[in-house]
Amino acid sequence: MEKRLQLFPHSTEIRRFDGVDRLAIGGCDLTQLAEEYGTPLYIYDQSALDAAVDEYRAALAAHYPGPAGITYAGKALINLAAARWAAGRGLWVDCTGAGELYIATRAGVPREQILVHGVNKSPADLWAAVETAGTIVVDNLTELERLAALADSVADFPQLWLRVRPGLAVDTHAFRQTGQDDSKFGMGFAEAVQAVTLCRTQGLPLTGVHFHQGSHFHDPQPIGPALDRVLELLAELRDASSWTPAYLSPGGGWGVPYHEDDLPHPSIDDYVAFLSARLAAGCAANDLPLPILHVEPGRSIVAVAGVALYRVGAVKRTSNRRWLLLDGGMADNIRPSLYGARYSALPVANPLRPALDPAWLGGPYCESGDVLIENLLMADVQPGELLAVPVSGAYHLMMSSNYNGALRPAVVWLQDGQAQLIQRRETVEDLVDRDEGMKG
Ligand code: LLP
Repeated sequence: MEKRLQLFPHSTEIRRFDGVDRLAIGGCDLTQLAEEYGTPLYIYDQSALDAAVDEYRAALAAHYPGPAGITYAGKALINLAAARWAAGRGLWVDCTGAGELYIATRAGVPREQILVHGVNKSPADLWAAVETAGTIVVDNLTELERLAALADSVADFPQLWLRVRPGLAVDTHAFRQTGQDDSKFGMGFAEAVQAVTLCRTQGLPLTGVHFHQGSHFHDPQPIGPALDRVLELLAELRDASSWTPAYLSPGGGWGVPYHEDDLPHPSIDDYVAFLSARLAAGCAANDLPLPILHVEPGRSIVAVAGVALYRVGAVKRTSNRRWLLLDGGMADNIRPSLYGARYSALPVANPLRPALDPAWLGGPYCESGDVLIENLLMADVQPGELLAVPVSGAYHLMMSSNYNGALRPAVVWLQDGQAQLIQRRETVEDLVDRDEGMKG
C-alpha cells in the first residue's frame, strides 16, 4: 500500500485525527473536505502543479541549449482558477476553441500567453482566436485561407504556427494517436510547403511549426523519428523559401503512472533530455538555427495534482466479485470505459490497512461499463467510507457529463494549507437551466 501512496501528490501524508489515521493532502484533512463539500469531490494540490512546472523548467534549462518555453494544455483541465494559476506561473495556455478561449480570457490570461488549437475551428472559433489570442496553430489550408481573410480586421493579428503531421505513430491507445499519416490532425508536408508560400505571399506572421504525436506515451524514443522528419521539412522549407521558424513545438503527450504497477515511471527530465538532445543534434545536422522549443504538456502537469474522493454507498457480493459501489464513476471519469484506463485507490481512513482481497469499484450509472476500477486489491472497506483515487487531475472533469442526471462534482484547490472551493457542485437546477420547455 505504500507504493500506492506514491501515486498521490508529494504533500500527501497520513495524520492521526480522533485516533484514526487519515489521508491529508497539502496540510488539509480529506475527511473534513468531503464533509464540507460533499462527494464526489475533486481536489487539486497547487504544490504538485508547481512542482511539475519546476521540473519542466529545470529540465529545459539543463538539457536544451537554446531558449525554451512551456504551453499548458488546457484541455486537460481548464477553469478560472487553473487558467489563472498557469498564467501566473508564466505558462502559455493552449485553448481549444472559443469556449476554452473564453475561460482563459475571463481568467485574465494575457493575450501573448494564449495559444489556440483545434481541428476544424469554426468561424466563431477563428474570430475569437484572432481577437484574443497571441498564437494560432493552423490545422489546415482551408483554415489558413479563412485566417488570411481576417488579417486586416484586427490591429494585433496573432502569430501563426503550422501544425504538421509527421506520419508516424507513438505507442499509446489508438484514440490518442495523432501524428500518424491517416490522422485527422494537421497538415501533410506538401500542404505545409503550400501554407508557408501562402503566408509569405500574403504577409501573414508565420513564426512556428508544431506537431503532436499523441497523448500518454511513456517512452520518448518514438518522438525521435517524428522530430527528425519535421527538421528535414524545415531544411526543405529553408532551401525553398529561406524561411525558418522561430518556434518549434513537439506538442505534449508525456505520460504519467496511474497505477502502482506503472511505477517506477520515467521522469519529465528523461523526456525533456531526450527531446532536447535530439532537437539540438537534428538542427546541427541540418544546419538549422536552434528554435525556441515550446513544449505543450497537459497531463504530466495536472494529472497527479488531482485526487478524486468518492463515498462508498453499498457493498455487494456476487459469485466472483466484491463490489464497492461509489457515488461517482463514468460521469466524472470516462477514461476507464473509454480507454480501459487502469486506476488505483486508497481508503481515506486507515489507508494502509492490509488489502488482501480484490474489489470492483462500480459507479452509480446505468451502464455495466460504469466500473471505475476493476480487480484492485482493497482493504475491508465498509459502506459510508471514503475512497481517494489518485492521478485524477487530467481529462476527468473536462470530459464529464450529466449522464443519468449526474451533477458535476465540486472542485477544491489546496494552497498553503488552505482549501478553497473553485467550482461549486452542479445543482439539479443547472440540469434544466438551458431548457426552454414546451409552449402550450
Ligand atoms: N497538444 C495538443 C495539440 C494536444 O492535442 C494535446 C492533447 C496536448 C498538447 C496535451 O497532451 P498531454 O500532455 O495532456 O498528453 N482524453 C485523453 C487525452 C486526449 C489528449 C488530447 N490532446 C485521455 O484522457 O487520455
